[in-house]
Amino acid sequence: MALQKITDRIWMLPHDSFTDRPNLYYIRGDECSLAVDAGASPAHVADFYRAIEDVGFPMPDCTAITHWHWDHTFGLCAVQGDTIASAATCRQLEAVQQWAWDRTSMQRREHTGEDIAFCNMCIMREYAAKPEQIRVTLPKQALTQPLTLDLGGIQAVLTPCPSPHSEDALIIYIPEEKALLVGDADCEDYYQEAGMYQEEALHGWIQRITGLDFQHYLIGHGEPETKQQALDYLQSQLDECTGNAEPRKLVRAYRGDYIPKMRRNVGHAPLFISGCTVLLENEKGEILLQKRRDNGCWAPPGGAMNMGETAENAARREAWEEAGVVVGRMRLLGVYTGEDRYIYYPNGDVCYCTLITFVSNDYVGDPMQDTDEAVEHRFFAKDQLPDNLNPCDERSIRHWAAGITDVVCE
Ligand SMILES: [Fe+2]
Repeated sequence: MALQKITDRIWMLPHDSFTDRPNLYYIRGDECSLAVDAGASPAHVADFYRAIEDVGFPMPDCTAITHWHWDHTFGLCAVQGDTIASAATCRQLEAVQQWAWDRTSMQRREHTGEDIAFCNMCIMREYAAKPEQIRVTLPKQALTQPLTLDLGGIQAVLTPCPSPHSEDALIIYIPEEKALLVGDADCEDYYQEAGMYQEEALHGWIQRITGLDFQHYLIGHGEPETKQQALDYLQSQLDECTGNAEPRKLVRAYRGDYIPKMRRNVGHAPLFISGCTVLLENEKGEILLQKRRDNGCWAPPGGAMNMGETAENAARREAWEEAGVVVGRMRLLGVYTGEDRYIYYPNGDVCYCTLITFVSNDYVGDPMQDTDEAVEHRFFAKDQLPDNLNPCDERSIRHWAAGITDVVCE
């Protein structure tokens, strides 16, 4: 991939949604150059440096880090020259340095809230299912106050500040280019706010950028925007927050843990939910089933969709949580409703579940065996399916085995 020119002095290696690699920026002064963000891995840094070499520019003398998230920092171990982040980012990375990188440890951190499934799935893709290769290193300089770097002909003003996305942001302002580089700072908070905006934080961010004179708003995972485009969008998000303050509080309260929280209100009464499963095909065309711990039946990985989550991402998350595999492209097999969709749990809970089933042969990682929910994972050929298929999943599995390719909706 090649560098894209944004202004006379600023270039960008574009983001890649496949593993959630962010944009990496290169700012060229007459005397020295500054990179913004260290990327997701040494491979990402290598791609960046190759692209810089291809246009004949010198390697960055310094790299500034916009915040602690893995996709912006795990390339630090391969970065040349000086490295700078906010002191808050350095503290956070010191904690991340203690983390173990195997599937069990990664999934445990999702339960404790230290990390989130989306990041771990992207990490598994970026590191080709070998997360043990991750080396977390610390930036050399920790900023508590703004710092102005003279790059020769242009300046870069690095300012540590809180942001709606995380508490540890570092924003980079290039006055001569009228450019503001913010990383993911204006995005929702996925760690503390379950993927929503916190109203005061968003309001503070809008105020902060309104006061700066810039034309180019350079973000972590999207195309460059103008100041007006950025402000219009952020204001619409803030209006949404304030206009729906009370209903949004309810969404926030239930979003993370919907079913247990609803159970406290309604007891065992039937809950209307959506379930998402994925039939993972190996290279022999067999599908992965798990022998469930609760009823001894064979079922594909799957579970209930969270509020705000897409059906596809729910299926991917469940495949990661239950089998430890990371799923990419999927096709919809079918949507299943009707009288056989009641689920009666041993504790007396009842659900009526719309089932959405996908098929995929695009995944990384070998299925884990003994897990919280399954005693075993095994691949089965179409003509050798086990007799005791999970009743809730039987229709979808039989449709797959019959080779149906038109989307089923019944
Ligand atoms: Fe981020």
